[in-house]
Amino acid sequence: MERLQKLIAESGYTSRRKAEELIKAGKVKVDGVVVKELGSKFPNDCKIEIEGKQLKLEQKEYYLLNKPRGYICSLADEKDRNIVTDLIDTKARIYPIGRLDYDTTGLLLLTNDGELANILMHPKSKVEKTYLAKLEGILSPEDLHKLKKGIVIDNIKCNILRVKVRKRDKIKNTDLVEITIEEGRNHIVKRIFESLNKPVSKLTRIRYGFLELDTLKSKEYRILSNNEVRKLYGYKKL
Ligand code: URA
Repeated sequence: MERLQKLIAESGYTSRRKAEELIKAGKVKVDGVVVKELGSKFPNDCKIEIEGKQLKLEQKEYYLLNKPRGYICSLADEKDRNIVTDLIDTKARIYPIGRLDYDTTGLLLLTNDGELANILMHPKSKVEKTYLAKLEGILSPEDLHKLKKGIVIDNIKCNILRVKVRKRDKIKNTDLVEITIEEGRNHIVKRIFESLNKPVSKLTRIRYGFLELDTLKSKEYRILSNNEVRKLYGYKKL
């Protein structure tokens, strides 16, 4: 059940505020009956008419994309760069859940389900995210100790659930590090390693909660199953 103005706004017909005006003006019918109450809630499959025209409610869609480099996680870009939603063949108004940087690759969820997006992006939902970071430099035992204790960024401690060096190239002086965190602040992984003077030269997200990239190649995507969507809703904290 959703508020009527939210159902109208989610259909893309107009903004929530304009939908409220239409409702108050008596221009909206639900299942044949005029509704003027702003608080009224209705199921997603109700029949909404605005000024006599039936509204089409958008079906919820859920995608798991292997994001390539050179795509931005946004709905539009002033610099005219490629946008992740261009990679998905749909007419629905989907958007990414959280962000990966322009040059970050890997697992990204996209949806038009605002409720699920809010649940997953809420700091309390604590979805574990695992990244592979290629570093310019080699982590010392002290660096690893600091990482395990948690790194303070902008006065807020970022807890690092797991960190391990997967590959070390002593000649090129690089480490490939797997790191798991729960939070989603912008550029957080890059900032963690920058704080140790080991800049990240390549970053990819390989896991998001229970979801993995599996066999998806760069730019490929798949639709999430109903069961996966149900499990993602399970991150909701009461
Ligand atoms: N941390 C980063 O620094 N960049 C990303 O894209 C994701 C997490």
